[in-house]
Amino acid sequence: MIKKESKLLVVDDNIDYVNFIRRALDAEDYKLSIALDGNTAIEKAAKENPDLVLLDLKLPDLDGEEVLGRMKQDNKDITVVVITGYGDDQVAMDMMKKGAIDFLTKPIEPQILIKAIKNALEIREAQQEDKQLELYPSLDRFFPFFAHEIRNPLHAISGALTIIQRRSNLGDEVLAQSINIINEEIQHLNEFVQECLNFVRPPNKVRFVEVDINEVIHVVINIITHIFERESNTVRVVTEMDPSLPKIYSNYEEIKQAFLNIVKNAYEAMPKGGELMIRTIQKSDPPNYIQIIFADTGVGVKKEAIPSLFDPFFTTKPLGTGLGLAVCRRIIAERNNGKILIESEEGKGTTVIVKLPFDHPSEESPEKSDGI
Ligand SMILES: Nc1ncnc2c1ncn2[C@@H]1O[C@H](COP(=O)(O)OP(=O)(O)O)[C@@H](O)[C@H]1O
Ligand SMILES: [Mg+2]
Repeated sequence: MIKKESKLLVVDDNIDYVNFIRRALDAEDYKLSIALDGNTAIEKAAKENPDLVLLDLKLPDLDGEEVLGRMKQDNKDITVVVITGYGDDQVAMDMMKKGAIDFLTKPIEPQILIKAIKNALEIREAQQEDKQLELYPSLDRFFPFFAHEIRNPLHAISGALTIIQRRSNLGDEVLAQSINIINEEIQHLNEFVQECLNFVRPPNKVRFVEVDINEVIHVVINIITHIFERESNTVRVVTEMDPSLPKIYSNYEEIKQAFLNIVKNAYEAMPKGGELMIRTIQKSDPPNYIQIIFADTGVGVKKEAIPSLFDPFFTTKPLGTGLGLAVCRRIIAERNNGKILIESEEGKGTTVIVKLPFDHPSEESPEKSDGI
């Protein structure tokens, strides 16, 4: 995905420091705008709508707190990282309470500056995504609300933890381990919230394009081997792709998400290793469809659990969300007029069969199609 260049507003009356920041960010892809006093900063923030403001607290005309307050008044979603002098920690904490996302104390190492900027921009992006989703009216509104309520404190926890990490003696093993635990739990919660959002993400037919399913499968395998790389997992993936598989008309990202969920489940079902076989086949007995088979040699599913597999929140894993297959069904059946079936035997393995039509699905009325 091509990312647009982020706009940064640097607010500092010390031209030497502005130049230092300019040099530190030279190799990064940011567009910088400079304000040497508070009033100019407020004006520029309103006019230029920067993605991030680096705000020095000591300015000739206004104090930093007022500048932050007025910027937030104009645009409550503005992302501000505060820069303080040595010994201003209390003020910095007050600024965090007033909505700054992070603070840095001078002198700042260029690497720390770059990391803080990246971190703040990522948080901003996630917040904007939550906001967009809030606009969709439906019963599913609960999830975006819920995501917002969880993500905001999570971002604050994550930000505060970065500060603790930066200032702690990580040679202390217990401390380092505790920080790791908090980080892992934050990540877990973030993933959970993300899955909830995937579940309600509205269909976007505008993004329907020709999709090469064989290619999606290759991408998914790459992603998954990367995710499971650390666990020295011994899962062997074997593919048997039909080279003349017709392209389907679909949303690439959604199909990728669905396959990723299926393959992730297969990996999770084989903690001691095993084999995952992925096959693609074209079926030409009308109606035309392609079939994708994911067969693993994992733990399998208990007979009584099979009818519940696609229910939201049904999980047999201690840290599972139970949303992976619910998302798959939404994407494959509801949004692509396809089918997803699971056959499984406890202790032997599981086979997931996906069927997708390769004629363009009718835009407005899925009921009209013959189905498969
Ligand atoms: N390949 C598989 N092998 C064994 N069990 C599976 C497999 N795929 C799904 N399941 C079962 O279906 C449940 C629901 O899956 P999913 O919706 O992805 O949620 P989660 O992975 O978070 O538990 C899993 O907890 C598991 O019991
Ligand atoms: Mg899953």
